[in-house]
Amino acid sequence: MARETWATRTGFILAAVGSAVGLGNIWRFPFITGQYGGSSFLITYLAFVALIGFPAILVEFVIGRRTDRNPVGALRELGSGAWSYAGWLFVVTGFIILSYYSVVAGWFLRYTLIGITEGFTLTDPAEANALFGTVSTGLDTLLFHAVFMLLVIGIIAAGVRRGIELSVKVMVPVIVVLLLGLAAYGFTLDGASAAYSYYLSPDFGTIAANWTEILPAAAGQAFFTLSVGMGVMITYASYLGEDRNLAADAGIIAALDTLVAVLVGFVVFPILFSVGIEPGTGGPGAIFVSLTAAFAGIPGGRILGVVFFGMVGIAALSSAISILEMLVSYLIDELGVSRVPASVALGTAVFLLGVPVTIDLMFLNLYDLLADGILLVLGSLLLALFVGWVIPDVARDELRKGIADIGGLDDAWIWAVRIPIVIVVLVSLYLGIVDYVDFLTGDFADWLAAR
Ligand code: PHE
Repeated sequence: MARETWATRTGFILAAVGSAVGLGNIWRFPFITGQYGGSSFLITYLAFVALIGFPAILVEFVIGRRTDRNPVGALRELGSGAWSYAGWLFVVTGFIILSYYSVVAGWFLRYTLIGITEGFTLTDPAEANALFGTVSTGLDTLLFHAVFMLLVIGIIAAGVRRGIELSVKVMVPVIVVLLLGLAAYGFTLDGASAAYSYYLSPDFGTIAANWTEILPAAAGQAFFTLSVGMGVMITYASYLGEDRNLAADAGIIAALDTLVAVLVGFVVFPILFSVGIEPGTGGPGAIFVSLTAAFAGIPGGRILGVVFFGMVGIAALSSAISILEMLVSYLIDELGVSRVPASVALGTAVFLLGVPVTIDLMFLNLYDLLADGILLVLGSLLLALFVGWVIPDVARDELRKGIADIGGLDDAWIWAVRIPIVIVVLVSLYLGIVDYVDFLTGDFADWLAAR
């Protein structure tokens, strides 16, 4: 059977935007921004998206379109020897990220449901925290994880055009419209002006003093939010049937993803400032605790909460499908398995890997720090080295297709990929490994010892 392709250019762009816009923008971005000082983090992150993220998307697009393959097959075709094994790293990363991503997405589904059935009434942070405890662990959590994975499997089993393309054409516009509405609402809140100044006036002194922390955090966030470093964009570009302007497409995708993240800040920070919650008190649960408390305390909070949590659920779904598609494309291309059984089998395996995360949040850290701080960064490093140093001519040639007047873009791009990206990524990787070892020998060891 012929390999599927996107039906339209918009379909491809929406799918890639859907992949990029997800928990990374909405759940991770505000608390990371809060942790690293608001505006100072924002400006570093914006610089990273433009200078590192955009070229990294192009790296994956070029590989995918050139080979029409899944990441493992693509690297085997273009590279030799050890390179052909690099694709395996993506498969491992995909499994780990999707397994906890789905659990966290399940929390959002659950909060949406709570908003619909009971509303948000807990103004006391201790009670809101207790609610988060019930939502984030236990059998119900497992159930919502299962429901989310079933949705993901359903879409991927339906195929590239009928599953992914059709669903993102609905999901992505819905996300953008809801978000614009929410940001407009945020504008009317009492805390808006304090929030804007916190969010928008960068303090270069803070950046200079804390760059060893801000830099890797901004790099990690840029990769994660743009879905690069694990072959998802290779997979999506492999369904491009014709030669389009990859640079324009990558630019649109990076810009829309960034716009969404920035908009989320315009929603979340005014809400937090209005009820006097300090955004820096971050952490994966804090955003739920502070937002539910906030939704309980502001006019129209219930509707606002349902719309917000529901929107995040949709955004998570359009990202999660891209990860399962990457995994499924491997089984289809390389082992000749057909789509439906491949989706069910891999989706079930991902579900099982996520089970520990529903039992204890320690597993979320164990997975997230490894995948996000190390595997994604390592993946980006390998891809940059591969394109920049192993196949630069092939890559340049592929980039030129579909671009009438390339100017100096191809040279600038290869140069960026060869040196600056490699350096930044190496530094981030080193810091990520140090963090992980700290975690394993510290928090995690204590936790194990207490068992
Ligand atoms: N970009 C997605 C987000 O921001 C997460 C993701 C990472 C999706 C890697 C696919 C691959 O939520």
